Amino acid sequence: MTATPVRLDVHKASMRDIGAILALINSYAANGIMLPRTELEMSEHIRDFSVAYDGERLAGCGALHFYTPVSAEVRSLAVQPDLKQHGVGRLLVEALEQEARAQDLESIFAFTYAAGFFHRLGFSEVERGELPLKVWKDCLRCPKFHNCDEIAVLKRLRAARAEDHTPQFSTRTAKLVKLPIVNQATFR
Ligand SMILES: CC(C)(COP(=O)(O)OP(=O)(O)OC[C@H]1O[C@@H](n2cnc3c(N)ncnc32)[C@H](O)[C@@H]1OP(=O)(O)O)[C@@H](O)C(=O)NCCC(=O)NCCS
Repeated sequence: MTATPVRLDVHKASMRDIGAILALINSYAANGIMLPRTELEMSEHIRDFSVAYDGERLAGCGALHFYTPVSAEVRSLAVQPDLKQHGVGRLLVEALEQEARAQDLESIFAFTYAAGFFHRLGFSEVERGELPLKVWKDCLRCPKFHNCDEIAVLKRLRAARAEDHTPQFSTRTAKLVKLPIVNQATFR
């Protein structure tokens, strides 16, 4: 059992947290443990993030990124190296899971080097191929695509229902949207 820091406070992140989150994530990215993030990406995705503070100091962060109407990825999970094994990661994932349950999601998943940690929180290992949207959306652009050593883990939050469906991305069936032709003169 891990000990929890006394003043730990977990809540949704705000723009003010971006600097501290970036410093934490990119310190792990420098060692190849996480993907590096930029200010632009963080600003775009800050609403996905929850943060844990030990007093004034950022103890850890994590994000819940929606994939389909019924599934989301737990990602960008990081705890300050000197605060590991104090229950910070657990509190963050529990907060993200609560958020997923509030959205009535069927499952949450993660790609990780810390599969043992996720096992402790009720996740099970799955084949990467069981998460086709993730592969389609992110992995194809990843430099490690052909020799990925991350482990896919998934936690089912509720049974699947008949009305749940996975969106299809076939370009053959997708309707093309016609963009309006804007007259340049309008902007002069
Ligand atoms: C993985 C990480 C988030 C875990 O955070 P943490 O705050 O140290 O974890 P906790 O203290 O909440 O641990 C919860 C439980 O998991 C166990 N655990 C923690 N890290 C573990 C690991 N790497 N392997 C196996 N078990 C682990 C703890 O012993 C604890 O067990 P318990 O239920 O018996 O008490 C943290 O080590 C980290 O930031 N790692 C670097 C970044 C990273 O790999 N992120 C994951 C990307 S998805």
